[in-house]
Amino acid sequence: MRLVIAVTGASGALYAQRLLSFLETGDHEVHVVVSDCARQVAREELEKGGLAIPPRFSVHGQRSLEAPFLSGSNPFSAMVIIPCSMGTAGRIAHGVSEGAIGRAADVFLKERRALVLVPRETPWNLIHARNMVTLIEAGAVVIPACPSFYGKPQSVLALVDTVVARVLDHLQIPHDLAVRWKEKKP
Ligand SMILES: Cc1cc2nc3c(=O)[nH]c(=O)nc-3n(C[C@H](O)[C@H](O)[C@H](O)COP(=O)(O)O)c2cc1C
Repeated sequence: MRLVIAVTGASGALYAQRLLSFLETGDHEVHVVVSDCARQVAREELEKGGLAIPPRFSVHGQRSLEAPFLSGSNPFSAMVIIPCSMGTAGRIAHGVSEGAIGRAADVFLKERRALVLVPRETPWNLIHARNMVTLIEAGAVVIPACPSFYGKPQSVLALVDTVVARVLDHLQIPHDLAVRWKEKKP
């Protein structure tokens, strides 16, 4: 698959790290954009002082116009914004096609390509809630960073993976990252 993974400045850099690390095990073409705020948050939240992006992935600057996915003429399978800040979600919901992340999301929606957002914010105000409705109406899939517990995750990573697993499900990428309901543990 040809994938765009965008990381924004919501808390939850570990969700992005786990997704990137999983994708490294496959043969997907992966393009990564990290917002300026996301870099700062990742430095605070991750043990290694920032995101470890697999070297074979293509990394694009948030202000780049060079990335291939910035035009609908270049076919891509899906884009995931993980974690997705309410700021980025709001800009996408209102068509503010700013920077590589905003433009890419705009392209994926207009081309009817899969756009998966993983917002992390709590509580929500009415503006957040309305923006999510707008995004879903426009065709995005919203997977809130809400871990599940029925698989009895035994570590923070296992808990995080319950969210990453749902993202991979929506990309239709096979995985055994998390326990499925009424199935044996992976
Ligand atoms: C430590 C820290 C944690 C944050 N956590 C969140 C969060 O969980 N959700 C969110 O929507 N914004 C969060 N923010 C705010 C965003 O980083 C801020 O809105 C930023 O402008 C988003 O920019 P971006 O969307 O370009 O990455 C956090 C900021 C900081 C400094």
